[in-house]
Amino acid sequence: MIDVLLATATEHKDGEPGHEALDEAFASRGLTSRWAVWDDPFVDWSEARLVCVRSTWDYDRRLPDFLGWAQGVGPTLLHGVEAFRWNTDKSYLTELASLSSVPTVPSVIADNPVDLRAAISRFGTSVVKPRVGAGGRGIVIVYDAESWLPVDTGPWIVQPLLESVQREGEVSVFVIGGHPVSQVNKKASRDDIRVHPEYGGTSEAVELTHEAALLAVDAVAATTEILGAEIVYARVDMLRSDGKLLVSEVEITEPGLYLDLVPENAEKFVEAVTARL
Ligand SMILES: Nc1ncnc2c1ncn2[C@@H]1O[C@H](COP(=O)(O)OP(=O)(O)O)[C@@H](O)[C@H]1O
Ligand SMILES: [Mg+2]
Repeated sequence: MIDVLLATATEHKDGEPGHEALDEAFASRGLTSRWAVWDDPFVDWSEARLVCVRSTWDYDRRLPDFLGWAQGVGPTLLHGVEAFRWNTDKSYLTELASLSSVPTVPSVIADNPVDLRAAISRFGTSVVKPRVGAGGRGIVIVYDAESWLPVDTGPWIVQPLLESVQREGEVSVFVIGGHPVSQVNKKASRDDIRVHPEYGGTSEAVELTHEAALLAVDAVAATTEILGAEIVYARVDMLRSDGKLLVSEVEITEPGLYLDLVPENAEKFVEAVTARL
């Protein structure tokens, strides 16, 4: 038996960036932990008392396989397959907006090109994203619905382009064990709206701000209520519009912990996770 298996992807087979902090935090509590690639057929997930999804950042290309895997792991999987089914489709943002009072980035689901054009016409300059997407893949800015042809077949989610992403960037708060524990601010480069490093974005650890921490905790509480399940760890990403922060993502499936910038997240994560052992 092993205490905790941490699910990752082939590209990060030794663990997410900065994983050493997490490995040490488990070891210092006398717990055994190991990273395992989620789609490696030779891993015996039943060997672990607890399975945590961490850096499975290739699931977006084959979501059914990923959810099938999660289902197969069963009750030792933290958060569980139903939470993942909900959270890996960005349409959850429309549900969060309609079922709670948490301010979210206006989002419209478009399952066909007609709805897609209607949503873009409504918002003006828009961000079009695949409903199932990660790492910024497949995201485009559309300035004019009439003169643009989508390259993929959808389904999509459409949002107004929030220009603050170029100045202030995106704010991420880690909510672990129900508490806001740290914050990372991410900026896009001049040439892209995406804050991910692959697109020239940069990130820095900052002190928690009151506004971001409050909104992040509210977003996780609302998500907990919608799902009817406890959320042990999450990262809430926020963007500013008209001076106010709005929730852009509530990441409860595979929130990167930015351990290279915030190694303290490791201790908080291990503390929250081991309370469920
Ligand atoms: N409505 C928006 N306005 C401005 N920038 C956005 C908007 N939506 C997303 N972005 C930018 O694109 C990035 C990727 O979008 P996101 O919804 O986080 O998808 P992913 O799940 O692929 O990370 C965000 O981190 C942000 O930098
Ligand atoms: Mg994101």
